[in-house]
Amino acid sequence: MRLTGRTILITGGSAGIGLAFALKFLELGNEVIVTGRRQAVLDAVKAQHPRLHTIQSDVADPAQIAALAARMKADFPKLDVLMNNAGIGVPKNLRSSAADLAGLMQEMDVNVGGVIRMTSALIDTLTANHGTVINVSSLLAFAPVPAMPIYSATKAAVHSYTQSLRFQLEDSGVEVIELMPPAVQTDMTSEFGEARISTITTDELVKQTFAALAAGKREIRPGQTNQVAFMRRLAPDLINRQLWNASKALVPAAAA
Ligand SMILES: NC(=O)c1ccc[n+]([C@@H]2O[C@H](COP(=O)([O-])OP(=O)(O)OC[C@H]3O[C@@H](n4cnc5c(N)ncnc54)[C@H](OP(=O)(O)O)[C@@H]3O)[C@@H](O)[C@H]2O)c1
Repeated sequence: MRLTGRTILITGGSAGIGLAFALKFLELGNEVIVTGRRQAVLDAVKAQHPRLHTIQSDVADPAQIAALAARMKADFPKLDVLMNNAGIGVPKNLRSSAADLAGLMQEMDVNVGGVIRMTSALIDTLTANHGTVINVSSLLAFAPVPAMPIYSATKAAVHSYTQSLRFQLEDSGVEVIELMPPAVQTDMTSEFGEARISTITTDELVKQTFAALAAGKREIRPGQTNQVAFMRRLAPDLINRQLWNASKALVPAAAA
């Protein structure tokens, strides 16, 4: 992937992995736009990094996606990189009924619906500009963390969708990249204290990922991801059981 002179939209770029990538892309001389739902967080990011463009937008809301795509076409017609990064993950207890059946699917709406709808809304622009799509899935696309069953399923879905997208776009001039991080120290993992899951920093993730992007890799498996993908093929039951044992403590007492 070409790493300079691009116009890059990062969903969920106001914190964590998205913000770390936004700042690295900015440092390399790109125009970078980040989105998120909380205006106060976007304002704080803008105050600290005035060269970043910030736009409030929820990837779970089709109407907000359509409005964002229209704004991109009007204000950033050179947009040529979409990084589908926004995501949420919540431990769930599957042993009793959820009080809120609509809310039960929220991770699907954000993590899967967001990726598919954002890509569709911007595909004309990305094709016209010979662009790049970067979908952020996870190590969990290869093996679930059973304490986060729906989240893990969303990441397997993004992995599958990304492979199809890559084939369908192979003659279009749009490159499709998948970033599959291991556990990373962000707000999302801040409550992993009780689980036996090792994490890397966003700095380490950025370092390894940019080396892979510069080398032209299409499926990027930093840190433990590559190891788990390999081990999962050799001994699936063992890896699945290890991830269950390591994450068990995260399962909430009642259905959430
Ligand atoms: N951290 C990890 O261990 C890890 C590992 C593998 C993959 N990932 C993936 O990496 C991505 C980023 O995760 P992270 O750890 O950086 O999470 P994070 O620190 O919680 O940050 C999430 C970002 O996404 C935004 N966001 C959440 N829901 C959104 C929505 N509906 N629409 C738009 N923006 C939304 C958040 O801002 P608002 O809340 O203001 O909207 C925030 O900017 C996710 O896709 C995650 O699944 C994370």
